[in-house]
Amino acid sequence: MAERPIILGIVGDSAAGKTTLTRGIAQVLGEHDVTTICTDDYHRYDRQQRKEMGISALHPDCNYVDIIEQHLELLRQGEPILKPIYNHTTGEFDAPEYIEPKKFVIVEGLLGYSSQRARNAYDVKVYLAPPEDLRTKWKIKRDTRKRGYDETAVLAALAAREPDSEAFIRPQRKWADVVVTFYPPENPEEAANDLLLNVNLILRPTIPHPDFTDILDSDLGKAIRLGLERDMGKPVDVLSIDGHATPEQVQQLERTLCSDVPYLGQFCSLEGNQEVGKIVGTTGETLQSYPLALTQLLITYHMLMAMGSAGKVKVAA
Ligand code: G6P
Repeated sequence: MAERPIILGIVGDSAAGKTTLTRGIAQVLGEHDVTTICTDDYHRYDRQQRKEMGISALHPDCNYVDIIEQHLELLRQGEPILKPIYNHTTGEFDAPEYIEPKKFVIVEGLLGYSSQRARNAYDVKVYLAPPEDLRTKWKIKRDTRKRGYDETAVLAALAAREPDSEAFIRPQRKWADVVVTFYPPENPEEAANDLLLNVNLILRPTIPHPDFTDILDSDLGKAIRLGLERDMGKPVDVLSIDGHATPEQVQQLERTLCSDVPYLGQFCSLEGNQEVGKIVGTTGETLQSYPLALTQLLITYHMLMAMGSAGKVKVAA
């Protein structure tokens, strides 16, 4: 069993769902065992300074990437850090906080994979890549409800930051072990319902994935599929889960995950658990869906496999 903390990266553009997924995974791993870090805290300039300089928070020059690297290395060694705090309400920095890593550390943020030194620190690297129109919808919802902006300001910020998204955020996708893309159903009536989102999970051969070969020749139909595709020029497996998947179909996938990591059983629908995949999102809404639940489970699976103690993890009372 690893002595040092296991480090998970959740990287993606602004409002790609990083905080919500981080919460969901922390719930499954057990919140008392998880330290969560957001790299927004490492912005180099406050909101006023950025405005004056005409630089966006998405630009590496606008962040202390070197301190992120150093802190990741310390956390990986089990050492504490003194982490800065960016206050999203004031747009300024608060006094730093002392953070000791617990058994698992989840590092979410915009530029987590932007340097080799940072990338080396993670055990599991996830990248969130929702379609841009869905991300826009999420960003409007979050920034108008939680960060005091109006819709016009959010759309203007998105447009102004687009060149930096393209230059610095999206290219990081290629470093991820798992790329997560939630996307809405085609039917417009259903598309309005966030609980019916489907998910595509790109599984890169950079880490060992569960053996999903059963799914290939199963009767899961179109609801849960495994396909071989190309992403950024490289062959990858893609696990697709439809928001309409039935409990039986989901359970087949859950069984595959639990056969390697029995601990996950308590978070599956297998035992009739009604709370499966329930997460309170950053906008305060409760989200619950099979694609979301299975995404959480798969990433947790990887964290526990990285710890080398799959199946032996003590279950919280
Ligand atoms: C983006 C990111 C934030 C980041 C922010 C800074 O929206 O998603 O998490 O901290 O830019 O901009 P702000 O609105 O606080 O000035």
